[in-house]
Amino acid sequence: MHDIEDLKQRAFNKIKDISSNDALEKFRLDYLGRKQGKLTTILRSLKDQSEAERKRIGGEANRFKHKLEVLIERKAQELKQSAKRDDIDITHPPHKIAHGHLHPLTKIERRIRQIFLSLNFSSVVGPEVDTEFYNFDALNIPQNHPAREMWDTLWLADAYRRRRGKQDNLLLRTHTSPMQIRYMLEHEPPFQIIVPGRVFRNEATDASHEINFHQLEGLMVGEDVSLANFMYVMDVFLKRLFNKKVETRYRPSYFPFVEPGLEIDIKLKGKWLEVAGAGMVHPNVFAAVNYDPKKVQGFAFGFGIDRLAMIKYGIDDIRLFYNPDLRFVNQPFK
Ligand code: PHE
Repeated sequence: MHDIEDLKQRAFNKIKDISSNDALEKFRLDYLGRKQGKLTTILRSLKDQSEAERKRIGGEANRFKHKLEVLIERKAQELKQSAKRDDIDITHPPHKIAHGHLHPLTKIERRIRQIFLSLNFSSVVGPEVDTEFYNFDALNIPQNHPAREMWDTLWLADAYRRRRGKQDNLLLRTHTSPMQIRYMLEHEPPFQIIVPGRVFRNEATDASHEINFHQLEGLMVGEDVSLANFMYVMDVFLKRLFNKKVETRYRPSYFPFVEPGLEIDIKLKGKWLEVAGAGMVHPNVFAAVNYDPKKVQGFAFGFGIDRLAMIKYGIDDIRLFYNPDLRFVNQPFK
């Protein structure tokens, strides 16, 4: 009995210090090994004892054996856990933290603003819900004018304001040109502004058409602002945006709020691409904002920002800009 008690104490102390699987296996064999195990030997010697001794020592030894098995199993688990911890390679580079980043349209818009600010233009914004007066009438596109069909309009149902006693219907602006009117009504020339912003058209969508997209309006008004000035501004803008001299082509075109009106094509990789409508501000537009058309002149232009981004970043479908697919959005866009 004394022997068992002694053996127990030593075993319990010893197992605490075990720190490897090899040592644990050695420990197990030392006590429970079939041939030489200390406890096995005790149990085996029981047959030589008296009946009473057999019971006493046998019970004690079996409880010890059981306790030892539990402790060995627990130790094995413990060693397994710490082995897992040791598997951690602290030199392994961590997972990259996902930083937010700019959408390609935001990115190009910032670059565009930067370029025009360096040319002394101011950047202003206007409302996306606007009225018929700003979007059409004041831009020399009266009601029933066939040119209104150039812009498939999304009207707000039964929503209007009163303007000089007349009903002025609300709509989603079809272009950024209404900001020409809003700005001129509140400022005197000379000035030069750009107006980046979202516009809306009631159109079927395809790879190059969206019901909402972005435009870059530009307007410069002064006493002797000419088409030559306009072409210079375009050359600088396009060269800086595309980081190289860009060949341009100006084609005569028609917009009610300019005269003459034109369209700008740029040549990239051997292909002509239409990028903007433009022209000299129509005298009727100046009259609508109480400027004297005999005194001031100006040019106006409207780029499709999405189109510019598609060209700059090599994107072939405008709808990708408005799709939350991260495989698209997470690209570097350089
Ligand atoms: N607002 C025109 C459009 O949306 C573009 C334009 C702007 C044309 C300014 C001329 C001058 O198509």
